[in-house]
Amino acid sequence: MESTVKIGTMISGGGSNLQAIIDASLAGELDVSISFTGSDTPGVKGLERARSASIDTFVVDYADIIRRFKANPDSVELPEDFDLDQIKSKQQLFDDAAPDDVVAPFLKSRAIAERMLLDEMAKFDMDLLILAGFMRVLTPYFIDRINTQPGQYRIMNIHPALLPAFPGTDGYGDTFRYGCRVGGCTVHFIDYGEDTGPIIGQRAFPIEEGDTLEDVKRKGLEQEWQLYPECIQKIASRFITARQG
Ligand code: GAR
Repeated sequence: MESTVKIGTMISGGGSNLQAIIDASLAGELDVSISFTGSDTPGVKGLERARSASIDTFVVDYADIIRRFKANPDSVELPEDFDLDQIKSKQQLFDDAAPDDVVAPFLKSRAIAERMLLDEMAKFDMDLLILAGFMRVLTPYFIDRINTQPGQYRIMNIHPALLPAFPGTDGYGDTFRYGCRVGGCTVHFIDYGEDTGPIIGQRAFPIEEGDTLEDVKRKGLEQEWQLYPECIQKIASRFITARQG
C-alpha cells in the first residue's frame, strides 16, 4: 500500500511556503512526496528552491499567454473541450452584472493557460494540489478537471488574512490598512469563488501599536510556515485513512 500522498505544488514568487513544506517533508513531519513545482512566472526564486530539492519544475507563462490573447484572440487556441456557457454558469469570480466583454475574454484566456497547466501536471502522480503563493485565480475549467470525485476537494490554498475577511491579492496590506489589531492566515480548499472554499486551518497574530506593513508580513509569514505543513498533514492523513478503509 502506498504510504505517502503525492502533492503537486504551484507558486508565483519567492516560495517561502514551498520551502517550509519541503523542510517539513525532509524532517519526516509529512506523509507526502512532492511530485512537482509549477509556476505561472518564469525565473522566480521558488523554482530555484524546488530545483535545489531535486523537485521537477515547469512554467506556464500566464502573462505571455494573456498578452498574446489580448493582441489577437484567434492566435491562441482554446482547449477543445472548453464550453464557455458552462464555465460562465459555474464561475463565482464575477457577479451576474459583469459585462460579457470582460468575463468571456478572462475565462477564455485563463482556460488556455489552465489547459497547459493540466497537460504539464498529467506527467506526474498527484493526489493533492498545493497552491503556495500562486497568484492566479483558477476557473471551473481547471477545478473540475482536478476535483473529479464528487464532494472531494483536492486543491489547497494559503491566504494571508483571516478569511472571510480580506479575500483578494493583498491580504496583509488590506488587514494593515484597515487598522486591525489582529492579523492572520488561512488554509482552505479552492472552490469556484475567490478565497471562499472550506477552511482547513487558521492562525492569528497580534498587530502592535507602531507595527509597519513589513512587520505584519513578517509575522504573518512566520505563522504561514507553521500552518501550511500542519494542514497538509491533516488532509494527507485523511487520504491515507481513506485508502486503507
Ligand atoms: C504568502 O503570504 C501567501 O499567503 C500569499 O502570497 C505569499 C507568498 O509567499 N498568497 C496569496 O496572496 C494567494 N492569494 P511565498 O512565495 O514566500 O510563499
